[in-house]
Amino acid sequence: MPYVLGIDVGTSATSAAVSRQTGSTWGDAEAVQLGERTATAPTVVYFAADGTVIVGDAAQRNAGGDPANAARDFPRRIGDEIPLMVGSEVCSAEALTAVLVTWVVNEVAAAEGMHPEHIVLAHPPNWGNYRRRLLHRALRDTNLDNVTLLPSPVTVAESHAAVYDVPNGGSLGVYDLGAGGLSSAVVRRSPIGTFELLNSAESVEPNGGNSFDDVVFEHVMDGLGGLDPADPDAWTTLSRLRRECAAAKEFLSVSTDVTVREVPLTRVAFEDMIRTAVQAGIEELLRTIRSAPADLDTVVLVGGSARIPLVGDLVKTEVRKRIVIAPEPELACARGAATAAKRLVPVPQPAPAPVVIADDVPPSPPRPLIEITPLDLPRPRSIMRALTGRPKAKTSGS
Ligand SMILES: Nc1ncnc2c1ncn2[C@@H]1O[C@H](COP(=O)(O)OP(=O)(O)OP(=O)(O)O)[C@@H](O)[C@H]1O
Ligand SMILES: [Mg+2]
Repeated sequence: MPYVLGIDVGTSATSAAVSRQTGSTWGDAEAVQLGERTATAPTVVYFAADGTVIVGDAAQRNAGGDPANAARDFPRRIGDEIPLMVGSEVCSAEALTAVLVTWVVNEVAAAEGMHPEHIVLAHPPNWGNYRRRLLHRALRDTNLDNVTLLPSPVTVAESHAAVYDVPNGGSLGVYDLGAGGLSSAVVRRSPIGTFELLNSAESVEPNGGNSFDDVVFEHVMDGLGGLDPADPDAWTTLSRLRRECAAAKEFLSVSTDVTVREVPLTRVAFEDMIRTAVQAGIEELLRTIRSAPADLDTVVLVGGSARIPLVGDLVKTEVRKRIVIAPEPELACARGAATAAKRLVPVPQPAPAPVVIADDVPPSPPRPLIEITPLDLPRPRSIMRALTGRPKAKTSGS
């Protein structure tokens, strides 16, 4: 069945959603499972010794014991002058991102039985033409030439508007707290229903999930009194402990306490550790809203770190607007990207049934002669005049 595809390659997690053709329209956007047990897959690319390039959960596993041959945290580095070293390879961030996008496209195509009609890829709102061009070129180098890039707040607005009414001309605030940082933005719906970015700001750590992981990690290391410096597998031990700390942080969103290697941590203590960073992010959101040329009444919270109860509570207290926390906040960009893709391509129409000319059809009888009196036809009207009753508006320069 034909479909369009939305993709979000985040600092830590990559997600995708599809909208399949249902009759003569596109259906609702549905998230695709990219991870082995989760909807999102880790944004990790691993170069195996035999030359194979491994992506997602498998790459994450390999990277644990061999970090030098793994690439992480690269999407936000697109446009940096300095390339990344992965093992002995020099890689650009855009090439690594294109590898990941190609993997997603192939995974989804294998599940759907065909390639997508169109792809929309979300990107950070502060990107200009230079970074977009770099990524487009890298995607074309991997034979992906049906990709449209859209700022992530625009995709968030699309996924919000698929559920809630957003009138044309109406504006939304977007607060996206992911792993690598915070994006705050204001978008406005245009008269034709699309969204445009009016204002945005980006702040990286200490304002995202990675830095919240660091906070838990430091707390656990203090409790353990450090790691054994003689451990021959110190790196593996360390990266495993970091993953346990990230899992503990996520667990604290649904539980009031957690224990990592016998070191206890309560939600209250964790919230005290991150409160200042979260508050700084909210101030940035307020500045972004204040300096946007629009009035808005709703702010949408997305990004995996929006699951932390303190985040929603503080935003609700400090931002005097209607606050909507997206139900699966880490998937909102991908869902909205798929929703935006629906506008960009018409639903494929079935090919008309072929006309069968049978050999044994007898020839038509000769037509009788008819005398035709020519009519005095009126002057043809332009399509615009026919539709609106007014002459076609002139475009500038015509
Ligand atoms: N239940 C949860 N509680 C707290 N944090 C969570 C929870 N679930 C996911 N996270 C965190 O959300 C982050 C991932 O969210 P998301 O996928 O939105 O980020 P990203 O898109 O990779 O990053 P960025 O948008 O900054 O580039 C991780 O830091 C993860 O630990
Ligand atoms: Mg993100």
